[in-house]
Amino acid sequence: MTKTPVDELLINEPRIDAKPLYEILNMCSRGYKIFRTIYVAVQTGLFDILDEPKTSEEISRELGVNVKLACKICDVLCDLGLLNKVKGAYRNTELSSLYLKRDSLLSQINVIESLNEEFKVWNSLNAALKGKPTPINEELFFEKRVPSLASEMLCGELQRTVRIIAELPEFKRARKLLDLGGGHGLYAIAFTKLNRRLKAYVFDLPRVLKCTRRYIEMFDAERVEVIPGDFFKDDIGAEYDIVFLSYIPGGKNPSLIPKIHSSLKTGGLFINKQVFYHDGEGSKDPLLDIGWNILSFQGMRKADRIYSFKGDVPFEGYIELLKRYFSVIKVVDASQFSRLTTSGAKSPLDPKMIIAKKRS
Ligand SMILES: C[S@@+](CC[C@H](N)C(=O)[O-])C[C@H]1O[C@@H](n2cnc3c(N)ncnc32)[C@H](O)[C@@H]1O
Repeated sequence: MTKTPVDELLINEPRIDAKPLYEILNMCSRGYKIFRTIYVAVQTGLFDILDEPKTSEEISRELGVNVKLACKICDVLCDLGLLNKVKGAYRNTELSSLYLKRDSLLSQINVIESLNEEFKVWNSLNAALKGKPTPINEELFFEKRVPSLASEMLCGELQRTVRIIAELPEFKRARKLLDLGGGHGLYAIAFTKLNRRLKAYVFDLPRVLKCTRRYIEMFDAERVEVIPGDFFKDDIGAEYDIVFLSYIPGGKNPSLIPKIHSSLKTGGLFINKQVFYHDGEGSKDPLLDIGWNILSFQGMRKADRIYSFKGDVPFEGYIELLKRYFSVIKVVDASQFSRLTTSGAKSPLDPKMIIAKKRS
């Protein structure tokens, strides 16, 4: 009896092994399920009650959750190093006790919630692909995003950055600093703790400053004030000893350079930490570029690559323009201040921190 092509399909394995495809799909499946497990654990407050060891029955009673499922979730979290199991009782590891409890100053719950929101945005990829990115008001976007950025920065980048800047003789002498697009204001707050004679101003969009005020209160910051405004349109103040920028739209745009120059005293410092692109550099990571293009801002116009806007210039061109107004003191490499990401990037995005001094 002759076999038809359909019969062949049932008897002989495919000509090309499906294993590489299944490895990719399995990676997605595992990543998604692990995220949902961590998300639900955080949402139900599991880590909040596990600084003391508890059995699954005790957990179930205290949180009002299904005992069998709670036990499974705890086992997965043990596997991930987020819980320990000793004599049938679960307990936080040092990692989860510090970062996954709601009342911890270093809680990363905002980051997990922000990731959950980001995943929802990816449901609109199809619309973006069809030429209809989802429009969003940037002030609302940043208002939601800034608490998560604050938590992320507190994991090391903030402390490393302020330590580098605190070493500069100009910082030790500084009396007035501007944190432009400062968002949470944690940089400004930390700077005032390191220099007792420094007054710092956080300039940001009005709605975002509600969050800044919360951090000012939380850290009992005495010499930090807020200035509401749009740095592209409004006056940013004057007579600063230091203007500091970290990851802001406009940070790679030449139009802000003269404005920042005018706002500084002679000899003042302009410190700019951004994810720059180099001459001839293509995409940093196409997966991240996809995410960047799903939402469109209503005011600022995004460019195609992650963290890029229309009007941005490459690093080399930015430095050349800067030299018309400033002497570049140094460029600090990412390895000195940046380490963590939840962006899904294959490799670090390599931000740079430029430190420049105003010429007369
Ligand atoms: C990515 S966040 C960076 C926050 C903080 N500097 C940091 O590094 O963690 C960008 C900040 O720039 C602010 N921003 C964006 N456009 C702005 C504008 N046109 N005027 C003032 N602030 C703006 C946002 O509200 C947000 O706080």
